[in-house]
Amino acid sequence: MTIFEWSNELSVGVKEIDEQHKRLIDYINVLHDAVEAGENRESVEKLLDDLIKYTEFHFSTEERMMYQYLYVSRLAHKEGHEHLLFQVRQLQQDLHKQTTPITWGVLDFLKAWLLDHILHADKLMGEYLNSRRVF
Ligand SMILES: [Fe+2]
Ligand SMILES: [Fe+2]
Repeated sequence: MTIFEWSNELSVGVKEIDEQHKRLIDYINVLHDAVEAGENRESVEKLLDDLIKYTEFHFSTEERMMYQYLYVSRLAHKEGHEHLLFQVRQLQQDLHKQTTPITWGVLDFLKAWLLDHILHADKLMGEYLNSRRVF
């Protein structure tokens, strides 16, 4: 069962970014399935690690495009990325130290974590890139 599905409402209008968002959603679903299947802590930590690595790659793609096309909010957007990475790394540390159990709350957090950013910051960036004829 997937907890997070792609829909056109999530599209930011830039193909490369949409494809990467779809992949991030896949990572969250895979993590969800692992928790649902009761996989051990090491496996879940490894999947979270994969999600973080792909997120770093994805954010660097967006940052490169924002700088290339001189998007005026690029600094604020980059700070948003840094904050998101801080939150998810913190979550990873808490899981590792076992101060936070892996619960549905954690998965809901990850879903909201990505969704809010896509629907607000990334959509605005996409509109700007579209105005610069990047699709
Ligand atoms: Fe972003
Ligand atoms: Fe994004």
